[in-house]
Parts: sequence; structure tokens; C-alpha cells
Amino acid sequence: MSQALTELFESNRRWAAASQAQDPGFFSRLLSQQTPQYLWIGCADSRVPANEILGLLPGDVFVHRNLANVLVHSDLNALSVMQYAVDQLQVRHIMVVGHYGCGGVTAALQGQRVGIADNWLRHVQDVRGKHRAFIDGLPDDDARLRALCELNVLEQALNVCGTTVVQDAWARGHAVVVHGWVYGLHNGLLDDLQINAQRTADVEPAYARALVALHARHAPAPA
Ligand code: CO
Repeated sequence: MSQALTELFESNRRWAAASQAQDPGFFSRLLSQQTPQYLWIGCADSRVPANEILGLLPGDVFVHRNLANVLVHSDLNALSVMQYAVDQLQVRHIMVVGHYGCGGVTAALQGQRVGIADNWLRHVQDVRGKHRAFIDGLPDDDARLRALCELNVLEQALNVCGTTVVQDAWARGHAVVVHGWVYGLHNGLLDDLQINAQRTADVEPAYARALVALHARHAPAPA
């Protein structure tokens, strides 16, 4: 095995020993069950690891990550994760978490060809198309990228709300709340984009309020 990979195994052994020393029984408890409260749907970017950002341990957050934190209704992988999290694990919160400086969102914004992912990122281009007038009205590329990172979170959170998984959960009275957050690579902080929906009737008003707030945040400062 290469030196780098050997170091990974050594690092893993140190981590397991330290975890066990700090909390004897930690692993044996996890062996019998997991009871996470949260489903994190985030970007695959190596700089946005769900557990570390939240300061949570193994067992605390169920995670699905893909390029540019996209949730589309035909994605059997994501839907399966969602159904398991909601129906079996009974998570109470689903958060779609985007991040500023997202490479996938950048590619979608600029129409860069990156390969097979172009087809996946087409979903983010659709978000761009839906909000074209607003995005094109922003002063520069940085502002447009920040806005599209946020808008992509709102749209994907809206998609989460529209899945059969969440619709069925709400219909049977399971109180799962859908959120949209964005993470700053530059400061390590999460921001809540305030789309908090926990029943079907919430969805459109919550989305509309969050969009108004997003637009206001990007409004030019008064001269
Ligand atoms: Co990203």
C-alpha cells in the first residue's frame, strides 16, 4: 500500500482509539442502532463535510451528497436515502446545504463544459434560467455566483418538499421540517435561508418569503 494510504489507516486507528478512550461504549452503542435527527443533503465538495461542520459525531446525521446539492425527482439514489431517513429513521429535519464558491454552480452559471457532469448540472442551469432576470441584474460575477448558490438551495429545498417521501410523511402527520442553508467556505459558518416548511400549506409561502429575503439581501446598497 502507498505511504499516503498507510497513513490513512494509521490515522483511523488513532481516531478509533481516541473515540473509545473519550467515551467507552461509543462504538457498541452505535452498533445496535442509529437515531439521527437530521438528513443533510449537501455538495460532495471535500470542504463541506456535514458532521465536522455541525460538530456532530457518527450516528448524529444521515448524509446524502452529490455535485451541487441537487435533488431531482427522478434520482432514485437520493429518493432512497430520503425515504430511509424519513420513514425508517424518523429524522425531524431535512436540510439542503449549498455553499458559496461551489464549483458545480460556477460551471452551471458560466456554461462551462466539464464532462458528463454537464448533464447533472443542467438542473442548476434550470435554476439559473428560472431566475435569469434577477441574476443578470446583479453587478458582477461574484454577486451572480453567490446568488445562484443561494437560489439553488431554495429550489432544491422546494424539490425536497415536492417528493412523494416528504408529501406522504406530512400526509400521515410526521413532523419533518425542510430547511435551506448555505455554508461559507471562507468563515466556516452556516446561514439559514429561511425556507422552513413542515406541511404542504407552508411550502409556497415559505419559498416566496425566502425568495423575497434573498432578493433583498442582494439589493444594491442605497447611494
Ligand atoms: Co459544491
